[in-house]
Amino acid sequence: MDASAWNARYLAQPDAWGTTPAARIVAEVTAAEDAGLAVGTSVDLACGDGRHARWLAAHGWQVEAVDFSEIAIEQARAKDSDDGRDGSVDWVVGDALTWTPDEPVDLVVIGFLHLDPGSLARVLRNAGGWLKPGGHLVYLGHAAENLRRGVGGPQDPTVLPGIADLASGAEGLEVVSLRHDLRPAGKATAVDVLLHARSWVER
Ligand SMILES: C[S@@+](CC[C@H](N)C(=O)[O-])C[C@H]1O[C@@H](n2cnc3c(N)ncnc32)[C@H](O)[C@@H]1O
Repeated sequence: MDASAWNARYLAQPDAWGTTPAARIVAEVTAAEDAGLAVGTSVDLACGDGRHARWLAAHGWQVEAVDFSEIAIEQARAKDSDDGRDGSVDWVVGDALTWTPDEPVDLVVIGFLHLDPGSLARVLRNAGGWLKPGGHLVYLGHAAENLRRGVGGPQDPTVLPGIADLASGAEGLEVVSLRHDLRPAGKATAVDVLLHARSWVER
């Protein structure tokens, strides 16, 4: 889907992803912090209307939140309130395939960005290159296996990543976790796929 198709979707269905961040993304970021990742600068790539960016900011992160749908960014800005939080969000209209941050960052989060496998691997490799030493990259999406075994998500098999697609995107990084993640979805189960990686540090 191109940006205009996403714009139409956000206009037709505001709040499509809810306001609660994906539990797996919260768990991976929290685990990274517990393992020593200092709260600092982050990117939420393909942020949609901003549920992960707002959660990060509420936990003290400075966030650049990027999406190519200007309607999503408009809706995200409208939902953003910085009441009492330490972090902040800079909302940016940009294409995940070409946008880059001005400075290296401590964390990149990408939730449910679905592209053809080559493009997704390229986005992940680029994002890995934005990390400071020891910085973390977390990608969570609907898995290819979700079509046969799960519910929800895109029904187009050409945009559903498998483990090998994410492994290709993780080239050059230290892989923390690369696996399927089963998520309760009503009475059924959705099959997600997770890549959590970090840039190498000397030990
Ligand atoms: C399923 S939504 C997920 C939104 C958000 N990450 C979340 O989990 O709530 C996918 C998002 O990817 C964005 N997107 C798709 N292709 C993109 C691209 N090439 N560059 C930037 N954003 C893109 C869409 O506009 C949409 O907001």
